[in-house]
Amino acid sequence: MKLTISSVILSVLVASSLVSSAPLDARHNKNRGKKMMGKASQATLSSAAGAAYFLTNEPAGNFVVAASIGSDGKLTLRQATSSDGAGSHGLGGDGPDPLFAQGAVKASAAGEIVAARKVNAGSNTISVFAIDPKNPTNLQMIGQPIGSGGEFPMSVAINKAGNNVCALNSGSINGVACFAVDKAKGTIKPIANTVRSLKLNQTTPATGPAGTASHVIFSEDGTKLIASVKGVPPTPGIIAVWDVAKDGSLSKDFQPMQPAKGGLLPFSMTVIPGKNAILATDAGVGAAIFDLNATPANGVAAGQSSILTIAGQKATCWSSFSQKTKNFYVTDIGTSQVTEISLDNNLKPTIVKQYPQGDTVATIDNDIATVGGNDFMFVLAPNATQVRVLSLKAPGNAVALQTLDIAGPAKAAGLPLNAANLQGMTTFIKRA
Ligand SMILES: *[C@@H]1O[C@H](CO)[C@@H](O)[C@H](O)[C@H]1NC(C)=O
Ligand SMILES: *[C@@H]1O[C@H](CO)[C@@H](O)[C@H](O)[C@H]1NC(C)=O
Repeated sequence: MKLTISSVILSVLVASSLVSSAPLDARHNKNRGKKMMGKASQATLSSAAGAAYFLTNEPAGNFVVAASIGSDGKLTLRQATSSDGAGSHGLGGDGPDPLFAQGAVKASAAGEIVAARKVNAGSNTISVFAIDPKNPTNLQMIGQPIGSGGEFPMSVAINKAGNNVCALNSGSINGVACFAVDKAKGTIKPIANTVRSLKLNQTTPATGPAGTASHVIFSEDGTKLIASVKGVPPTPGIIAVWDVAKDGSLSKDFQPMQPAKGGLLPFSMTVIPGKNAILATDAGVGAAIFDLNATPANGVAAGQSSILTIAGQKATCWSSFSQKTKNFYVTDIGTSQVTEISLDNNLKPTIVKQYPQGDTVATIDNDIATVGGNDFMFVLAPNATQVRVLSLKAPGNAVALQTLDIAGPAKAAGLPLNAANLQGMTTFIKRA
């Protein structure tokens, strides 16, 4: 990736919609464009370290909300950019976490792009946005929205170079599909031989959370594309592993890997640096380690794979890694706790500490960014329409830094949003 190319945010906004086109278009037109959520001088914007992004995912118009990240790690809401499409809510529950997913919006530092999900009447598409390098809260759509290769897309992954985006679909046509993004030309194109089915018996919108796809990531070395799928109790779910060829194409079939004994509902996946392994949250038990070096015995994760039981957990579903503390941070929508997990050299997990965020705020998607050598965790708390910012000062020492209200500034900007529809959290930090 050429560093000279102007920065790009890629937003892949995807989903399915059962709404007829006429009323959607009417509402859509009212709800497109950009909404300013806070005034700031050019100097202030230029001094911002980066931006955090999440989705309103509203059926009447899905916006990518961007907040600037200050040098102190604090957020300021700035701008909401229309995805030029609608959001959607899965079936099987009316509450927060509408997509049963992590990765609904994803930023790439290398590619300087952000990807997010989107819905159009009768179509399922992804969109790409360019990041303004001077002001990363300013997004510009690249090209036209493109079909997601399935229905109810809910998670996106971006490769290390930032020029290949893969979408995960969880609807009746489910599986993955990948796209080549060319910032300079402003194009998004399907990559041949990447539409691959997960063969789930699902509906559009997806019915969950049990039995739905959860998250899609690239392995650390980029040679695998991995999708997680929740089980339908008592049957455990899987992670599905495809090989990625040099041209971006995927192996015809995936290798399924069940979690170690006791695992049930694989949700988010976070790469364990340098280990060819991932830490997955498991809504049924807490967390699961998947050792990708070991050949699964009978399809069950082997080697140093294991399960971590988080006592009292209700639904641990989202995760991030801190470069500074070298620990993992997971969130539980049911207990509204952040749990810090350390791994020893043999991938054995231990709970370091728990950080309650307050009953029923429903902590969901999160991301961690390094600003000036300090790590900050950004946690979407949709039931309180807030973002909680934690300063990760040291292992076992995460400190509450900020509670950012979303509802007030959204109302002032005329941006409709609801606790049950908010989803996603991803960050972008400017190059030093
Ligand atoms: C798919 O799910 C539906 C609804 O649960 C069920 O009626 C149907 O038998 C399932 N089909 C297959 C092939 O398992
Ligand atoms: C969200 O808030 C409502 C109202 O306080 C509460 O009844 C519900 O349990 C909360 N949901 C979650 C997931 O915390």
